[in-house]
Amino acid sequence: MRDMVIAPSVLTADLADLAAACTEAVDAGLDWLHLDVMDGNFVPNLTFGPPVIRSLRRALGDGPTFDAHLMVSNAEDVYLDYIEAGCNHLTVHVEAVTHLHRLIHAIREAGASVGVVLNPATPVEAALAVLEDVDLVLVMSVNPGFGGQSFIPGVESKVRRLAEAIAAQQAAGGRPVQLQIDGGVKSHNIAMLRSWGVTNAVVGSGLFNDKATIAANLADLDRALAEA
Ligand code: DX5
Ligand code: ZN
Repeated sequence: MRDMVIAPSVLTADLADLAAACTEAVDAGLDWLHLDVMDGNFVPNLTFGPPVIRSLRRALGDGPTFDAHLMVSNAEDVYLDYIEAGCNHLTVHVEAVTHLHRLIHAIREAGASVGVVLNPATPVEAALAVLEDVDLVLVMSVNPGFGGQSFIPGVESKVRRLAEAIAAQQAAGGRPVQLQIDGGVKSHNIAMLRSWGVTNAVVGSGLFNDKATIAANLADLDRALAEA
């Protein structure tokens, strides 16, 4: 039994056959799917939105968790569309939202769990300010917009600080919070990230690549975690 969530990021999957790629990930035992929604405005890349997610949900059924990483400039206007399309969890960028506390509660009231995400240069205080309100904090370990980038080691202090704050909140009877990291996670660093306090690791090109199957790539990640 894995002691952390490995969340496949479908951005580096074959987007021409996204349902098959997601099904392969689910069949390999990964049921938390990280959907990288990019609007070409908040980030330079443009991926997919509610219509594609709705088709994915139809293809995969109700089992897998759809975690939408909203790299969009207008999350306050569109969040309901993602929930109605079948997302169970929405993570919003603190850099792109004017009224973050209000949006967090609106997402929860609409029936989804909710997270906030910090870009590499965004101070940890932005997440600490709403830690009692969220189910997840995502620390970007690459600059958002593309898969296959190199891990930014400078995020270590931010991750450790968040892990401490989350543990203190839970010890005081507060809401449990997942600590997710996203970008450049591979078998050579995933055990280190767990030691920093990460409980949910997004993996894109480390799982979806033409070197091996998802199951084989996942076995490498699990081996790294088991041997640490
Ligand atoms: C980048 C996305 C990440 C990315 C991860 O903006 O948010 O989820 O797809 O891909 P890898 O694991 O290849 O860095
Ligand atoms: Zn992502």
